[in-house]
Amino acid sequence: MTKLRTKITAASHYLPEQRVSNLDLMKTLDTSDDWIVERTGIHERRVAAKGQATSDLAAEAMKSLLKKRGINASEIDLIIVATVTPDMFFPSSACLVQHKVGAKNAWGFDLSGACSGFIYALATGAQFISTGVHKKVVVIGADVMTSIINFEDRATCVLFGDGAGAVLLEAAEDGEQGIIDFLLKADGAGGQYLYMPAGGSLNPPSVETVQRKMHYVHQDGKNVFKFAVRGMSDISHEILVKNDIPAKDIRLYIPHQANLRIIKAAVERMNLDDSQVAINIDRFANTTAGTIPICLSEAVENKVLKKADKVLMASFGAGFTWGSLLLRWEI
Ligand code: ACO
Repeated sequence: MTKLRTKITAASHYLPEQRVSNLDLMKTLDTSDDWIVERTGIHERRVAAKGQATSDLAAEAMKSLLKKRGINASEIDLIIVATVTPDMFFPSSACLVQHKVGAKNAWGFDLSGACSGFIYALATGAQFISTGVHKKVVVIGADVMTSIINFEDRATCVLFGDGAGAVLLEAAEDGEQGIIDFLLKADGAGGQYLYMPAGGSLNPPSVETVQRKMHYVHQDGKNVFKFAVRGMSDISHEILVKNDIPAKDIRLYIPHQANLRIIKAAVERMNLDDSQVAINIDRFANTTAGTIPICLSEAVENKVLKKADKVLMASFGAGFTWGSLLLRWEI
């Protein structure tokens, strides 16, 4: 079977309107703007409205994606939603999005890869294009992290926000453009450092699990930080070496936005200039699967990328999961 190159032909994003600043958090939490900015780089985050679920954010991102590309929802073959905060266990958020946007010819599924979810999903969606099985695949990274955050846990709640980003994948006519390579990794031994203990089959919901706040994100921040610095730097470096591409040739490095200090460590390791790095953690915090496609969409909107520019994405998250993806920009 001849393999086709997969390219991103449109990128879009949606963020809920409500902004919550560090000063807002200080009204109910023993924290300070200085601490949050210094330790994380975050100034504010967006929070979904009551009743606004992950599929709502994802559907908005997908609607504007279709508009940008000027195509009808019925042309989409497959929708993949990377998320750890699906509206519910089932049906999948992908099915809910399919219905909300009227993509009646698409099938779809959710992919759980935490902060690496978008890169996992992008690599997965690309397979359906490169094998010629599908012509148009939508990959969405979306999370309503505020639905699983304990707002009394100051070391965790300040880190997250809500948001969604989406990309459209199609075959590249020019064999040079599109996704060049990706590396995907996981180490389940890291699961103990970042997880949500209850709500699943291990600890089904009960009065006790709710009282013990087991339906929230639990993390060992220090260990996650340590593994993330190493994991994201290593995998970014590895893909460049594998493809014999010097870091200076990367027009845009899009790292997962978990903590500005994690990003800076990776940037330093690769010797990148600040102008090569996409950062929006200051405005949107960690939107988990949303961070990378939101950054990409903003870069396209701001005309940062031109044809043939090299883009490197990298992530690290719960699982542990981590990955990197290299592409030559096409639009
Ligand atoms: N405001 C003020 N003080 C705080 C806050 C806060 N919001 N949070 C913690 N502190 C305090 C702690 O209680 C501690 O006080 P103590 O010394 O009196 O005990 C002090 O600040 C230092 O705490 P540390 O945990 O050492 O702070 P650190 O510099 O490690 O930063 C942080 C903590 C921001 C959580 C960092 O470890 C981190 O970013 N880790 C990675 C977490 C992460 O990215 N998780 C998501 C991964 S993505 C995914 O897949 C979902």
